[in-house]
Amino acid sequence: MFIKAVRLDDLPASGYPFDLPVVRALHTRGGLRLPTPVTLLAGDNGSGKSTLIEAIAVAAGFNPEGGTTAFNFATRATESTLGGHLTLSRVPGRKPRTGFFLRAESFYNVATEIDQLGATGSYGGTSLHERSHGESFLDLATHRFGPGGLYLLDEPEAALSVNGCLALLLRIAELTALGSQFVIATHSPILLACPDSAIFEIGTDGAITEVSYDQAEAVALTRTFLADPGRMLRYLLND
Ligand SMILES: Nc1ncnc2c1ncn2[C@@H]1O[C@H](COP(=O)(O)OP(=O)(O)OP(=O)(O)O)[C@@H](O)[C@H]1O
Ligand SMILES: [Mg+2]
Repeated sequence: MFIKAVRLDDLPASGYPFDLPVVRALHTRGGLRLPTPVTLLAGDNGSGKSTLIEAIAVAAGFNPEGGTTAFNFATRATESTLGGHLTLSRVPGRKPRTGFFLRAESFYNVATEIDQLGATGSYGGTSLHERSHGESFLDLATHRFGPGGLYLLDEPEAALSVNGCLALLLRIAELTALGSQFVIATHSPILLACPDSAIFEIGTDGAITEVSYDQAEAVALTRTFLADPGRMLRYLLND
């Protein structure tokens, strides 16, 4: 563990991202504890998971567009300024040996930067542009992620099959056993089952609530759907 909490002591401006319900909630609830080696951020589309995870990444010293702390390319400036206002409570005497910020939306640019740096050797030896989306992401997790690292992942399941999600789950468990910490925004009922994790669900009102695996909406809804897809479809189509 490297970061044990995130705080937002003041709301310095109006407008995005400071007027998002989740950002206001982060301020009023006195921050967010990261109590376990894996912190999972759940919540519906638009609830503010990416905004939060990107801000944590920026506060931790990562490039807002993704990559390692050594990456400093920028192709566009859509990242919010929230990161500059977050305070991270770090675990004394513990510094990550390595790390990665995966932003699904700009993984392509990260792959280009890796090629330009001539660094494909650390990522399995093949240009990530010559692998499928899911293959390149699993290359990254297998070859580039290592022990004692800090990993911030925004919807890593975007690229992955069910098998791929299971492979990533195993890799995360392996790396947390070796002293790594993860903060992951996800909709995946598989990744929400990560061992040694806490799930924080962001509600439509921005409230951040710790929930059990069974309570998480992505898990409960998927279960209901899978138990009888025809029944849910009939319900939705007749509504
Ligand atoms: N650059 C921006 N300027 C203004 N509003 C933005 C900007 N980026 C995101 N938003 C808004 O902030 C809200 C939260 O967006 P965010 O991307 O953090 O949600 P999310 O929880 O990651 O959603 P998803 O599950 O779809 O990825 C959304 O309503 C979005 O429209
Ligand atoms: Mg998002």
